[in-house]
Amino acid sequence: ESVMPEKIDYVFKVVVIGDSAVGKTQILSRFTKNEFCFDSKSTIGVEFQTRTVTIKSKLIKAQIWDTAGQERYRAVTSAYYRGALGAMVVYDVTKRQSFDHVARWVEELRAHADNSIVIMLIGNKADLVELRAVPTEDALEFAEDQGLFFAETSALNGDNVDKAFFQLLEEIY
Ligand code: GTP
Repeated sequence: ESVMPEKIDYVFKVVVIGDSAVGKTQILSRFTKNEFCFDSKSTIGVEFQTRTVTIKSKLIKAQIWDTAGQERYRAVTSAYYRGALGAMVVYDVTKRQSFDHVARWVEELRAHADNSIVIMLIGNKADLVELRAVPTEDALEFAEDQGLFFAETSALNGDNVDKAFFQLLEEIY
């Protein structure tokens, strides 16, 4: 993007968690590369991608970690959460079960991550309007109850993805 090397002011580690197939990997590639891949494979182990953004005139490198939602592929949790300043807990607005599991993901965060971690609840696949199974109000109520930030996104068309990440990064800052 830029020609001149720039000095990074801060590195913020953010973890993305949630059930398998809710779109964690696609949200990440939308934010870091503005790409969407239709035949994405399930994540095995842990990967991370970065994007450098400017927040309040500071250069922030967001280091965003993605892990498998499937239990059998999950990496060691303590290492994954170590040093994380922010978390996105993702569910699929068309899959009620993925929303019902959010409470467990939040519990896992509270057990393994730093107390001060900023958590954002993300309802992804908002483009699938006809298939919606989780009303916005249900998620909003849960988020308010648990003290989480909340957004609905579409990694497919990009709606709200940048906005959600920027909100999370600003809250960390
Ligand atoms: P695991 O790696 O198994 O934990 O899954 P994941 O949460 O990373 O899901 P992934 O990003 O691989 O996406 C799962 C499927 O959902 C893929 O077929 C994606 O194309 C699709 N998908 C992801 N985001 C969206 C979205 O915003 N809208 C629609 N319509 N489909 C999406």
